Amino acid sequence: MLERNSISKLLENNPFINNIYFFDEINSTNCYAKQNKIPPDSLVITNFQKNGRGRFERTWESEKNNNLTFTITKKVNIKHCEQNHIVYYAAYSVYSAVKHSIKSIGFNSKLSGSNIRIKWPNDILINQKKAAGILIESNPVDNYYIIGIGINVNSISFSNDLVNTTTSLQIETKHLFNLNVLLFDIISQLQKNFKYLEEHKLNKIYNLWKKSLKCIGNEVFYLHKSGEKKYGKIKDISQSGNIFIEENGLIKSFNNGEIKLINYG
Ligand code: BTN
Repeated sequence: MLERNSISKLLENNPFINNIYFFDEINSTNCYAKQNKIPPDSLVITNFQKNGRGRFERTWESEKNNNLTFTITKKVNIKHCEQNHIVYYAAYSVYSAVKHSIKSIGFNSKLSGSNIRIKWPNDILINQKKAAGILIESNPVDNYYIIGIGINVNSISFSNDLVNTTTSLQIETKHLFNLNVLLFDIISQLQKNFKYLEEHKLNKIYNLWKKSLKCIGNEVFYLHKSGEKKYGKIKDISQSGNIFIEENGLIKSFNNGEIKLINYG
C-alpha cells in the first residue's frame, strides 16, 4: 500500500515534483488535477480511485491498496501537432521502469526480455496482456499536460470483462512489489526522459518508443470502428502515430481512434 510519508521522503528535494497531493481514496487523480487546476510539476496519487477513467471514455478499474494510480502535471513547450510525443514519452518511461523493476527482483525468465512491450499507442503489455494504461489530457493553450498512469501491480483478480486481457506484475512474476519503490522508479524514468522533451529531441523519443513496440512485421487481427474485424501485417508506425497495415498487398494507414488491435502478434 502507498504511504504518504514514504512518498514524501522518496521525492524530497526532487525538482521534478514540487507538490504531492495524496489521497486514501478519490474519484480520479486526472479529474482532481483538472478540476483544481493544480500547478505543473505536481503528483496526485491515491490508494483507490472510485471512478478511474480510461481512454475513449472507458473506466479504469483498480483494486484498492494494490496498484498504482497517479497523475503528474507538466508544462511542455511543444507544438499542438507534436503532442503525441508526450504519449510516447510517458509510455516509454513506464515501460522502462516496469522492465527494470522486474529485472531487479532477479526475475530472469523469458519475461525480462521480449515479453514486456508497449502496445500501440500506449498500453504496457506483459505476455500479451495489459498491465498498465496511460491517459493524457491537455490544455494546449498553455502547454499544460495531465499525465495519468494506472499500473496493475499486486492485483491478482479482475472483473469478468477484464480477466482474459489483463494482468499484473505480481501475476506475471509471483513477486509482491513495494508500491512506493515502484512509484519512485517510474518517476525517475519520467524525470530522466523528460530532458528529451525539454531539448525538443522528439526523434529520440519516437525511436525509443517505436523500438519498445516490438511489433513491426507482426501479423495482427484488428477491429475497425465500422465493426469489421480484419487481419494484416504491421508495416510501420509513423512519427505522427499512424499505423500502416498491409492487407492483401495493399498498405492502409489508420490513426489510433480508427482501429483497435485485438491480438498483437
Ligand atoms: C487506458 O488504458 O485507457 C488509460 C488508463 C489510465 C488510468 C489512469 S489511473 C490514474 C489516472 N486517473 C484516471 O482516472 N485515469 C488515469
